[in-house]
Amino acid sequence: MSNNIRKQLVTYALPYANGSLHLGHMVGFIQTDIWVRFQRLLGHNCYFVSGDDAHGTPIMLRAEALGITPEELVRQIQIEHEADLKDFLIGLDNFYTTHSTENQALASDMYQRLQKQGDIVKRTIKQAFDPVKNMFLPDRYVKGECPKCHAKDQYGDSCEQCGATYTPTDLINATSVVSGATPIEKESEHYFFCLEKHEEFLKEWTHHNNHLQPEITKKLEEWFSVGLNQWNISRDAPYFGFEIPETRGKYFYVWLDAPIGYMASFKNLCQKTNGLSFEEYWAQSSHTELYHFIGKDIVYFHALFWPAILKSSEYRTPSHVFVHGFLTVNGQKMSKSRGTFIKARTYLDHFNPELLRYYIASKLNSGIEDLDFQQDDFVARINSDLVGKLVNIASRTASFINKLFAGRLAATIADHVLWNRFTEARLVIEKHYQDREFSRAIREIMKLTDLANQYIDDHKPWLLAKSSEKINEVQMVCSFSLDLFRILMTYLQPILPTLAKAVEDFLNVPLTWENLTKPLLNHTINPFKPLLQRIDLTEVIAMSEESKEVIEPATEITLKTTVLEEDPIRETITLEDFAKIDLRVAKVIQAEPVEDAQKLIKLVLDVGGEIRHVFAGIKECYEPEQLIGKSVVLVANLAPRKMRFGVSEGMILAAGNGGKNIWVLEPDPNAPAGARVK
Ligand code: MSP
Ligand code: ZN
Repeated sequence: MSNNIRKQLVTYALPYANGSLHLGHMVGFIQTDIWVRFQRLLGHNCYFVSGDDAHGTPIMLRAEALGITPEELVRQIQIEHEADLKDFLIGLDNFYTTHSTENQALASDMYQRLQKQGDIVKRTIKQAFDPVKNMFLPDRYVKGECPKCHAKDQYGDSCEQCGATYTPTDLINATSVVSGATPIEKESEHYFFCLEKHEEFLKEWTHHNNHLQPEITKKLEEWFSVGLNQWNISRDAPYFGFEIPETRGKYFYVWLDAPIGYMASFKNLCQKTNGLSFEEYWAQSSHTELYHFIGKDIVYFHALFWPAILKSSEYRTPSHVFVHGFLTVNGQKMSKSRGTFIKARTYLDHFNPELLRYYIASKLNSGIEDLDFQQDDFVARINSDLVGKLVNIASRTASFINKLFAGRLAATIADHVLWNRFTEARLVIEKHYQDREFSRAIREIMKLTDLANQYIDDHKPWLLAKSSEKINEVQMVCSFSLDLFRILMTYLQPILPTLAKAVEDFLNVPLTWENLTKPLLNHTINPFKPLLQRIDLTEVIAMSEESKEVIEPATEITLKTTVLEEDPIRETITLEDFAKIDLRVAKVIQAEPVEDAQKLIKLVLDVGGEIRHVFAGIKECYEPEQLIGKSVVLVANLAPRKMRFGVSEGMILAAGNGGKNIWVLEPDPNAPAGARVK
């Protein structure tokens, strides 16, 4: 094997640094990790890098909402992600971040290479702009009514109801998600990468050498038939990212520097690793292998933009991009309210990581179909395959060897035919791993597991042990069973690395691919300790219950963090800042629901000599009738806001962060309408 050691670099998509990892992310990391561990088991030189994707508007706004700098946010999240991945036994060589000096240097340099090639053009375009927040708005930050089917509450790029695509300002009654203001159109100069110039290269690249799975190549054909467009790679300030060289206030779009983050993570690894050369893996002349594992939602970036950018900036292109499907839970898209949006950490608080690794592997193949985490199925699969069948082989036989033979295994193979069947399965299992057909590998391994159990059932060591003249047979049968167990655990090692380690300690032998051809004879093993316990459905239910609580902020706060940890106090303001806000006591004289608006109540307020109409987003928590006659606090000098239903002339104060957590503030009912609040 040593004469054809391959040099491989494997990456998994960089998760965004604005939230926790969930089981969906783990599907991809687990798939990649199993493949990498398999390569390493074959003796190949396989590096595995990933990191956080730190840039972009959502991260900037999330940091702002938390009252911390984006740098601080991405630093905290990186620590959290790294711990989650480690605890899921993801064998990364490096988990880095796109907000790094290496990435900035690489992105700037590659951009300049693209410029030299004449692949960057400048053009002025119009975009949605938030006049209150003073920022350009990504499509997802504009919401309004679909101009085509009039569905409410649609994003600025496309309608989830009718599928129409449009620009944010086409929306009827568009509002900025950031400030609630009506976006305007504003011009700005942008930098574009000429993707269309690479059409010939991309057509060729996407169709050859199995760079992509067939279903992905087919999907790309649709995109080719629509035609490739220039790609806007710049964003205006304020933006969290890298400033584009020789510009002011223009930043690289997050998706430009994100895949470059793979290179940066590897570069950082090279700096920490003697003899590892960045050029050897990334130069155009490289003979090493480069694999990107990603989910199906980000194919466009990896199969079109990325190869074109690498090519144009004179780096090597990927050997393969491997795409996986999405995780659903109990047959549905993961949902916070159903408790199916399970964070990696929540899972780890309830279960051993290897159970999920095994379960996911048993569902994964080389295709891009979605896979389902089904709670009963999970419990059944683990209890039946791992506890009932696999580990059972050892627990049924080890104690005889330990007690009757002081841990000594027999000197000969009990059943050559069966032993050969086990070791010969290596070829097909190897092929399944290599082809990312993990479910098939597992099916093959489970067939063998059944055979091993059948062998034990047939020979019944517990009966043999009753008569002293059959004592040698007991040793033969149990030694042989444990050797079969060793072979099975070797096959499963990429999926169950910790269990494999425990079995190495127990059998006192390394579980290596080379050892597959060597029977374990005349060998002393260690005392057997239970390896895995059965799991119970109630524990899965407890996990989803806990996941439900994660989105009900009030509960989460009492369970996990304090209110202030969740929502820290903002930076200090001066008395003058505060005095700008004119707060008045107001009496609710009328309150009625707003037709078509799920969350709004229309209030008519007496502000002590003036009547104000206010639309308040509190319908999920209050019935209109309940409010009539109440005193409230009005932000009286807030600029009027035009809404689809009319103009809102101010805002009433409420505590809580929305949804079911809204508590309207009520002053002492004796305070007269119009009284200033200070
Ligand atoms: N930051 C980008 C990737 C940049 S790569 C240069 C991104 N981040 S992500 O956090 O949204 O997703 C990270 C990975 O997790 C992607 O491969 C994505 O497909 C995958 N998944 C996110 N949700 C998933 C499921 N529900 N199921 C399976 N994979 C999922 O995209
Ligand atoms: Zn529509």
